[in-house]
Amino acid sequence: MNLAIVGMQFGDEGKGKIVDFLSENFDIVARFSGGSNAGHTVVYEGNEVKFHLLPSGVLRGKIGILGNGMVIDLKKLQREMEMVRELGVEPKILISSRAHVVTSFHRILDEMEDEIIKIGTTKQGIGPSYAAKHTRIGIRIADIFQGDLEKKLKLLSEIHRLELSEEEIKKEARELKETGEKMKGMVEDTEIWLNNAIDSRKSVLFEGSQASFLDIDFGTYPYVTSSNTTVGGIVTGLGIPPSKIDKVMGIAKAYTTRVGAGPFPTELHGEDGEKLRERGREYGATTGRPRRVGHLDLVLLRYATVINGIQEIALTKVDVLSGMKRVKIAIKYECDGEKKRFPPANINNCKPVYEEIDGWDNIEDKNLQRFIELIEKETGAKVKIVSYGASREDTIMR
Ligand code: GDP
Ligand code: IMO
Ligand code: MG
Repeated sequence: MNLAIVGMQFGDEGKGKIVDFLSENFDIVARFSGGSNAGHTVVYEGNEVKFHLLPSGVLRGKIGILGNGMVIDLKKLQREMEMVRELGVEPKILISSRAHVVTSFHRILDEMEDEIIKIGTTKQGIGPSYAAKHTRIGIRIADIFQGDLEKKLKLLSEIHRLELSEEEIKKEARELKETGEKMKGMVEDTEIWLNNAIDSRKSVLFEGSQASFLDIDFGTYPYVTSSNTTVGGIVTGLGIPPSKIDKVMGIAKAYTTRVGAGPFPTELHGEDGEKLRERGREYGATTGRPRRVGHLDLVLLRYATVINGIQEIALTKVDVLSGMKRVKIAIKYECDGEKKRFPPANINNCKPVYEEIDGWDNIEDKNLQRFIELIEKETGAKVKIVSYGASREDTIMR
């Protein structure tokens, strides 16, 4: 059975924790989109481990695939592998020959562009690397080993008027080659490798990064990331046909958070927001920025369920809301006087319509059951996993 994991909100739903929890039953964990903008937290032997590029299953000895849909900073990847080795585990990974690289030039561009666009990106060079891919001036992993690498870097510099010196280009090419050579043994045509593995009955967990509302097509454009983070990203970002995705599980936090700019209808400001941020320890795993926080938004969850074909939900961080007298949940929006059950293309003018229920004190509380049943009724998906702490143990299967 091959299972897809996708975020249902604006990221940081706890995908890392759930992937780690489920990975036991899978042979392979495969990332299909994004790069080191992701920050997936796993608690391993009592320590918090943050993954940015490596699939979260590698700590459990699973084979990790970095798919062609990713954009990879090889130096960062090397450092992350070192971190895993220091924990006493040799990461087993395969890197797609067709994945694109993030160079230091893409990082510079990200910094420069975000000064103007003000999306509040993670400054990891993600947008510029995907832009280069689509402008057809990108550099793939396989291209590092070709003779014209300097020419490619020069083209990038010219198109973006970076005015890099000959020396800077030579240095970047040299470093890319050096790191590339060290990683060469892990480079693979992963689309064929993975399809063969599935055909010989190996099971795959597809690890989504970012989330549905950061998707380049379905997110709150332009405040999104530059890839397809929804289920279609698996098909194009790994070369896996839809028929090989057996089930889709959405990960949703019991409330909503967002890092960076963009619309957020249920956002909480002031003291209430502050309190929730502290209780949930809502600080970015990649940039350390405070996350914006707000109430659960079922308009978003309903949409995410439809566009991803989500059959099951893993609901995380229910412990963070525990002890609250009342819990507010957005059921629909009112957008320019019109009621909406699904988010329109622009949600800037949408006001949430809330339902309020009594809060819960512990995971057995019947009010938590009512909360879960409301999510199931409104999305049509089954809440299969409830997570009430960062560790693997703090998880219930329903
Ligand atoms: P991801 O990007 O979706 O993998 O999520 P992040 O790792 O960026 O953020 C989720 C944060 O919540 C991490 O610090 C996790 O350790 C933590 N976490 C995950 N599940 C739970 C939970 O059920 N309860 C609590 N209190 N923390 C959780
Ligand atoms: P995980 O996988 C939360 C946000 C950034 C910014 C926007 C674009 O941990 O859930 P980018 O650097 O991708 O060009 O930034 O997307 N963003 C995330 N927010 N979790 C993430 O990943 C994110 N990856 C990107 O904050 O608003
Ligand atoms: Mg994260």
